[in-house]
Amino acid sequence: MLKIEQLSIDYRVGPGRLSILHNVSLDFPAAQVTALIGESGSGKTTLTGAILGLLASNAVVLHGQILWAGDNLLGRNQEALRDFRWRQASVVFQAAQGAWNPTLTIGQQMLDCCLDHGVSDGPARMEKLLTQVRLDPVRIVGAYPHQLSGGMRQRALIAMALMLQPELLILDEPTTALDLITQSYIFDILAEIHQQTDIAMVLVTHDLAAVARLADRVAVLYAGTVVEVAEVDEVFANPRHPYTQVLLNSSPGIHGALPTAAVSEGKPPDLRQRPAGCIFASRCPECQPDCLVQAPLLGEEQVACHLRCS
Ligand SMILES: Nc1ncnc2c1ncn2[C@@H]1O[C@H](COP(=O)(O)OP(=O)(O)O)[C@@H](O)[C@H]1O
Ligand SMILES: [Mg+2]
Repeated sequence: MLKIEQLSIDYRVGPGRLSILHNVSLDFPAAQVTALIGESGSGKTTLTGAILGLLASNAVVLHGQILWAGDNLLGRNQEALRDFRWRQASVVFQAAQGAWNPTLTIGQQMLDCCLDHGVSDGPARMEKLLTQVRLDPVRIVGAYPHQLSGGMRQRALIAMALMLQPELLILDEPTTALDLITQSYIFDILAEIHQQTDIAMVLVTHDLAAVARLADRVAVLYAGTVVEVAEVDEVFANPRHPYTQVLLNSSPGIHGALPTAAVSEGKPPDLRQRPAGCIFASRCPECQPDCLVQAPLLGEEQVACHLRCS
């Protein structure tokens, strides 16, 4: 359904550039939940932003394609992208971000979204979706955002993201800034929505329990490079890439959260000038001389490591 090919993105910073995504190739199959994990700063939000056409103005797409049903999204104009953003793919960001307009009721904002896109049965859809995220439509429709708790606002946002029946829902740390009980409640709701609708999801989260619960596949990002892609059971039972091993081993089991910085040893790569070899070489416990010379490719086995490819 969605296929990213060889995507490289820099940010212009002062007179220089930072290389944020480097030759990212990743598939997001229909009806599947793909979790995107990696430390803070690894480029996850840049990747979701690229898919949605929401990159910062100092971002430079060096090369690559983002194919939606075979069509390159990077070639689309803003208007086409705006339509894509609601009808084909929609997004829920961190709870902390003020996604709601404080001066309009939740109902007004949900219906505006329908009107903007020529949907006539807005009220019926809104009622059904609010119920699906376990909110009482009677109470919520007339409420202003500040009258709701953070968890309720976030659930209403999930309902809004589903208004135009997209095929893909992108969730970029959707429960950050919420308390633990609310987080797990929201993941329950997302699991239920996925079961009922078969909607594909891209799930960016640090919550490993949520990954185990919701995801079919996991993609691991390190410094803007996809180092491993695997089925969710595989990645927990048998992480292959040394970075995935460090990342999962340094978190307190499947019920814990991913650490913000999994690797304390070695230097992080300099993103002003990517190293010639493996991006993880400077911190890898298994680094060999060859690893400093040539960057491993993800390849058929979906693990970018010289020591793991046959
Ligand atoms: N507009 C920007 N200009 C310059 N650097 C940025 C910009 N946005 C993000 N970054 C940097 O790019 C890196 C990747 O950021 P991001 O994609 O947000 O990572 P993640 O979502 O995995 O935490 C980080 O080092 C971040 O500080
Ligand atoms: Mg992010």
